[in-house]
Amino acid sequence: MISLKGKVALVTGAASGLGAASALLLAKHGAQVVHADLKPRPEEGWHAIDVASEAAWQEFVSHIVAKFGRLDILVNAAGISLEGDTVLECTAETWQRTMAVNLDGTFLGCKHAIPALSAGGGGAIVNFGSVLSQVGDGNAAAYVASKGGVRLLTRSIALHCAKARNNVRCNLVCPGYIVTPMVEEWLKGLPAGARGDLEARHPMKRLGRPEEVAELVLYLVSDEATAVTGGEFNADGGFTAW
Ligand SMILES: NC(=O)c1ccc[n+]([C@@H]2O[C@H](COP(=O)([O-])OP(=O)(O)OC[C@H]3O[C@@H](n4cnc5c(N)ncnc54)[C@H](O)[C@@H]3O)[C@@H](O)[C@H]2O)c1
Repeated sequence: MISLKGKVALVTGAASGLGAASALLLAKHGAQVVHADLKPRPEEGWHAIDVASEAAWQEFVSHIVAKFGRLDILVNAAGISLEGDTVLECTAETWQRTMAVNLDGTFLGCKHAIPALSAGGGGAIVNFGSVLSQVGDGNAAAYVASKGGVRLLTRSIALHCAKARNNVRCNLVCPGYIVTPMVEEWLKGLPAGARGDLEARHPMKRLGRPEEVAELVLYLVSDEATAVTGGEFNADGGFTAW
């Protein structure tokens, strides 16, 4: 059984969906988890942060190191998918906010966490791409562009860290369509039958569950994966295999 005992993990987007499932599983395996999301929560260990803000990241990472003495794991799961995202519909605001959260947010998290991870002797980062890091989608111009960016950002960070020999690993998780509030909300706006069509686009003929993606995150941040960096791992029911 994987143990994360003694490790401090920061998970963004932890209030919902894949971030929430990842945070829960990491905690179950012994990590001390700091939950970060836009929405403040009164519980101990919850922090409100807009991942698009560099000042917020700087303050947040300093706070974690001061409070817990270390940071071992960063999971960048915060992300958005906005309505009206075909190339013709996509407004400048939609484009910029999508990039700010999905791509800038991931970059800023890595940039400010790496020194803290490195100071503790090394650590692991998991970034959230998507099957839409690998294939296009006519209905999601900004989203796909942001997730494609996260894919090569992840490789670049892994290469930088390997060269710096700081023992920090960085990998990409690419989910297919998973039953989370993000996908449920999107399906609500589509005609009846859209869910079945979406299921049929996955060779396994079903949508994924958040816990299935969290298991992959758990492996990648664990000491079972010490040689794994710069990799891209699909949890997509075969979506990208055909
Ligand atoms: N659900 C899927 O099918 C799917 C597929 C591929 C990739 N993804 C990616 O996985 C990640 C999680 O998606 P999900 O389906 O769990 O979505 P979700 O909407 O259920 O959860 C996303 C969380 O991120 C938070 N968030 C949004 N903007 C933020 C910001 N600026 N700062 C801090 N927190 C912010 C939200 O408040 C929310 O709690 C995203 O990066 C998404 O793009 C999801």
